[in-house]
Amino acid sequence: MPVLTFANTKGGAGKTTAVLLIATELARIGLRVAVLDADPQHWISRWHQQLGTNCPERLQVVPYVSAASLEREIQRWQSAVDLVILDLPGHRSPLIAQAMGHSDYVLIPSQGSAMDAQGAANVIDLLSYLEDKAGVRIPHSVVLTRINPIITTRALQGVKQLLAQKKVHLLTTPIIERAAFRDVFSCGETLYTMDPRHVSNLDRAQENAQMLGQEVLARLKRYCTIGAVTAPASQTVRLVA
Ligand SMILES: Nc1ncnc2c1ncn2[C@@H]1O[C@H](COP(=O)(O)OP(=O)(O)OP(=O)(O)O)[C@@H](O)[C@H]1O
Ligand SMILES: [Mg+2]
Repeated sequence: MPVLTFANTKGGAGKTTAVLLIATELARIGLRVAVLDADPQHWISRWHQQLGTNCPERLQVVPYVSAASLEREIQRWQSAVDLVILDLPGHRSPLIAQAMGHSDYVLIPSQGSAMDAQGAANVIDLLSYLEDKAGVRIPHSVVLTRINPIITTRALQGVKQLLAQKKVHLLTTPIIERAAFRDVFSCGETLYTMDPRHVSNLDRAQENAQMLGQEVLARLKRYCTIGAVTAPASQTVRLVA
């Protein structure tokens, strides 16, 4: 089953938050998802531990994945779930190139800032290198993170122009800056276990995560074989671009 990798060599671009939102959303709608945590900060593993029985039934989190264990864990989980998601470190690391080699799709989270865009460009350059040298084309998209829903900054416009120039696919759904997306980590909650009386705009955060999940699933279906656990195996579809 496909491997979806999140990468940006700039720290703090919003990778782990995007992993959490997409993994929980896809598990909520019926996919069996395993997140391999190769981020040295281990936020997703800590979150999973805190979550305990509130964890969506179909979601697994594998802690402490390293360069030495990456290949083994991918092989182990690929046959057990519908989707493997990889969360990577936020700095240049050999693990990024290693992970690309196993990926069916790469999502590149980026805030609307020149520094994040440079981190995204490093990943895009690595993907182009793989295509040129090894003939391996890995489909990829940028997902904008921490976006202000009201104001479009000049920096954000600059990032969009750069992506258009480089002909890089941009997801239509950005991840909006929301308290709920921060609080899921500090409280060990999901968007569906949080109390709406204590978290502002929780309904909008859920809506954002749902739209994002649907768009990512549509992109994956375009390039990979992906079967929902709720459907019988015979209904698994192969959709090729
Ligand atoms: N959409 C968002 N709304 C609010 N806060 C956010 C959002 N996305 C990320 N953050 C916050 O930004 C910070 C960095 O996010 P995150 O840890 O997801 O980035 P990262 O790319 O995984 O970082 P690293 O490179 O260190 O692994 C965290 O404090 C997180 O709570
Ligand atoms: Mg991270």
